[in-house]
Amino acid sequence: QERLAGARRVAVLTGAGISKPSGIPTFRDAAGLWKDFDLEEYATPGAYARNPQKVWEWYAWRYQNVMQAQPNRAHALLAALEKRVGEGFLLVTQNVDGLHRRAGSSQLVELHGNLARGRCEGCGQRFSLPDPAEFVPPPYCPGCGGRGRPDVVWFGEMLPLGAFEQAEQAFVQAEVALVIGTSAEVEPAASLGRLARLSGAYLIEINPDPTPLSSWADCILRMGAVEGMEALMAGLN
Ligand code: OAD
Repeated sequence: QERLAGARRVAVLTGAGISKPSGIPTFRDAAGLWKDFDLEEYATPGAYARNPQKVWEWYAWRYQNVMQAQPNRAHALLAALEKRVGEGFLLVTQNVDGLHRRAGSSQLVELHGNLARGRCEGCGQRFSLPDPAEFVPPPYCPGCGGRGRPDVVWFGEMLPLGAFEQAEQAFVQAEVALVIGTSAEVEPAASLGRLARLSGAYLIEINPDPTPLSSWADCILRMGAVEGMEALMAGLN
C-alpha cells in the first residue's frame, strides 16, 4: 500500500481471474474453458481454417456472455488507480472481454484482442460486431466485404503490432508492478512481471492460488481480485 501510494509509474497485468467475479469463466481453473473446450479446436489458426463456422459460433457465444456481464469492483478500482497515478500508469490485459474499458480504464493495452470486434481476412480492417442479439456469424467487412475473423490472438499467432512493446516498456519503467488473476503460463505476457522485477520494480501479485510468478513477488495477496484490490486501495486517497 505504501509503495503504491508514492509510485508515479505503475504497470498492471490482468488475466481471466479478474473477470471471474463478473461471471466470465477463466481458462485453466477447475471450471475453466480449456476443460470443456479443446483449444486446438477453437483457438488456433488451423482450427479456424478447418471449421470457421464452429469457431465463430464459440466466439459469438463468448461475445454474448461478456456483453451480458458487468465490470466488477476490481475493474472499477483499477480505473480509479489510473486516475490517481496519471500518465505513468498502464494497464495491460490478456482479457478479451472489454470489461476494463467499460469500467472506465483508458490507458489500456489489450494484448489478446477483443471479442466485440472482427478483423477482415482480406484487407485486415478491424470492425465492431453487431449487437450480440442480432449477430449471426460470420461478419463481413464494412470496407471491402471480405469475411471477418474474430479479432483475437490465437495460439501460434503474433500479438497486435506494438502492443507487447508498449507493455514491455511500461513494465521495465515501473516502480510498482501489479499482476492480478493470471496463471502466468502464457508467454509473452507471463514474462512482464519478471521483467519488471528484474528492472527494479516492487512486484505485487493478487491471486488466490500460487503461480510460477509467486516466487518472484515482493508481496502476495492470496485472495480474489476484488478483495485484493480493496485491500491495496484502502486508505489511498
Ligand atoms: P487462466 O485461466 O490461465 O488463469 C486464471 C487465474 O485466475 C488462475 O491463476 C486463478 O488462480 C486466478 N483466479 C481465479 N479466481 C480468481 C479471482 N476471483 N480473483 C483473482 N484471480 C483469480 O487465465 P489467464 O492467465 O488470463 O489466451 O490466461 C492467459 C491466456 O490463456 C488467456 O488470455 C487466453 C488463454 O488461453 C488467449 O486466448 C490468447
